[in-house]
Amino acid sequence: MNPLNIGNISAKLPIVQGGMGVAISLSGLASAVANAGGIGVISAVAIGMTEPDYMKNYREANKRALQKEIRKARSLTKGILGVNLMVAVTDYEDLLTVSLEEKIDVIILGAGLPLKMPKYVLEKGFDNIHTKFIPKVSSAKAAKLIFSYWAKNYNYIPDAIIVEGPMAGGHLGFKKNNLISESEVLSDIIESTVNEINYFEKEFEKEIPVIAGGGIYTGKDIYSIMQKGAKGVKMGSRFVTTHECDASIKFKETYINSKQEDIIIIDSPVGLPGRAIRNKFIDQIYSGNAKPFKCYWKCLKSCDSKNVPYCIAQALHNAAQGNMEEGFAFAGSKAYKATKIQSVPDLITELRIDYYRVKYLEYLKDLIGDNFIPEKFSLPDILPNILKIRLT
Ligand SMILES: Cc1cc2nc3c(=O)[nH]c(=O)nc-3n(C[C@H](O)[C@H](O)[C@H](O)COP(=O)(O)O)c2cc1C
Repeated sequence: MNPLNIGNISAKLPIVQGGMGVAISLSGLASAVANAGGIGVISAVAIGMTEPDYMKNYREANKRALQKEIRKARSLTKGILGVNLMVAVTDYEDLLTVSLEEKIDVIILGAGLPLKMPKYVLEKGFDNIHTKFIPKVSSAKAAKLIFSYWAKNYNYIPDAIIVEGPMAGGHLGFKKNNLISESEVLSDIIESTVNEINYFEKEFEKEIPVIAGGGIYTGKDIYSIMQKGAKGVKMGSRFVTTHECDASIKFKETYINSKQEDIIIIDSPVGLPGRAIRNKFIDQIYSGNAKPFKCYWKCLKSCDSKNVPYCIAQALHNAAQGNMEEGFAFAGSKAYKATKIQSVPDLITELRIDYYRVKYLEYLKDLIGDNFIPEKFSLPDILPNILKIRLT
């Protein structure tokens, strides 16, 4: 696997761990992934829920908790760390500023188009900021819009771009009817985004890695999407079932106990579809039996808090803490494949072995030709064949 280079920052492995809220990817998971050579990402959304004064003092609690988690993660690793930030949250500028002040290595900006930049960035200038900016999009069109806006208004373009396809976990940037299960979709969006970005790369003489996310679960998935032009992958669900993931064991067990048919698309109160594991809480909501709740503050710009059946931030935080009766787990389309909880280093080794297995099988197929049937070959069979070919 090649390293993932984003400007002057280089991760040994081209694996970005998806930021997962609320309080699912904090300093524990992020530092473990960074130590393993990938990019470990802290999720900033409603992170202040881990603080006792969140209900009264949400803005301060969010800023304080994010600063604490970044510092804690930094104390645990010398690797590459990121923050995942949703443009759709009402304290977006505050959280972005905290992340930049803390000199986080990368910032991923999703759930909305990151066009406007806070005062901190405008005053300091992009070139004087350590952090690399990575918008997350679901189409080449959205990528073009962001790049054109930044080029025109800031004379600067993002340092990398994440393209997330329709098979991802969490909120999705697609209309519900477009959430079809064709595996080609992500690769198509990757190819068109690579083409779109190419113009800006030339114009700014800057390499912009395209990173693919959504439904990437195995080393084979990583290898396949990289053949389409992705320079890295973003994986969320696969990291949930690790010891280091910051969620409760009960949350992780919902992944292990889930079946393919349990992974469903829900209408999230924020006005976007989301992919989650069906449970009693979700069934209650759909049967109109939601409990009344109080919104302490409007944390998401698009949430119609007076008319939605539940608070999504609270439900996700409850689940992260193991209270699955009053919450549910977001999950990607392949989350049901989880069979065990393992350490991050073991998971990375598994991914690498699978990646190289697929890569070399392809190499051998190329070398040996149509006679090569992987299932029929063992290493002692393959070696003489290679030698024969080499000799002729
Ligand atoms: C449990 C869970 C929580 C997530 N929370 C967030 C979030 O708060 N903000 C966000 O931008 N993306 C969120 N995501 C999306 C991930 O960052 C990542 O893009 C996604 O998981 C990739 O798809 P995969 O799960 O199939 O690998 C979440 C995903 C999961 C599975």
